[in-house]
Amino acid sequence: MSETRKALVTGGSRGIGLQIIQTLLAEGCEVWYLSRSKAAELESELVHHISCDMADRESVASALETVVSEAQEIDILVNNAGITRDGLIMRMKDEAWDDVIAVNLTSVFLTCRRIGRLMATQRKGAIVNISSVVGIMGNGGQTNYAASKAGIIGFSKSLARELSGRNVRVNVVAPGFIETSMTEVLSDKVKDTIKTQIPLGRIGNTEEVAQTVAFLSSDKASYITGQVLAVDGGMAM
Ligand code: NAI
Repeated sequence: MSETRKALVTGGSRGIGLQIIQTLLAEGCEVWYLSRSKAAELESELVHHISCDMADRESVASALETVVSEAQEIDILVNNAGITRDGLIMRMKDEAWDDVIAVNLTSVFLTCRRIGRLMATQRKGAIVNISSVVGIMGNGGQTNYAASKAGIIGFSKSLARELSGRNVRVNVVAPGFIETSMTEVLSDKVKDTIKTQIPLGRIGNTEEVAQTVAFLSSDKASYITGQVLAVDGGMAM
């Protein structure tokens, strides 16, 4: 296998995914990322954007074939794309459920099925799926999101068992509250209340999540598989 590691990241146009791509690039990886829009910050010959709607099976299937034909090998897969459509269960529309499950969970199944097959053939690979502390602890108003993020955990542990014989590791990173556009919509009052529930007393940043993803996808984590690592200031211990 070549020395430059090849990584595939879903999402990545902004927030945690963008930081993950920048961190993997700094670690010497070549990166393909699937998102609807291109990130202006990622102008490099080592980054390849493939336009893709992760909620659409055909769009995902075709983007994955493009990546596989361009990259030939994939060493690292990071499933980062995710959305929220919050609401109390009694008022939750079918679309709010379906959209969140499609982007957050079904897309993980689709990428892991295709890239997991490639990694099994290579007999080498590392998959990191981004869940959330909400998938561990639950959160009122987020039954759809919590179901998708808890689903990622059960899915990843099962996949870790399936692929372990092929030297493919599968782990989960569960961020707590991280400063991104997903959380900037919260008022200062809500943020202050949240901070009281975080033992380290502050909201986290994207760099802290990206460093954990880079670690789990590197050979430094060669004996770690099937684990859920919370990057949450101690919220979910
Ligand atoms: P964000 O809203 O800033 O970014 C979401 C990413 O998902 C973007 O890169 C976007 O390109 C991608 N995306 C969304 N829908 C897509 C679609 N249909 N097709 C293709 N790409 C799509 O969110 P953020 O905060 O960067 O979240 C990244 C991941 O981290 C998500 O899975 C989220 O659930 C998770 N997370 C975030 C936390 C936070 O506090 N920000 C906490 C826990 C988990």
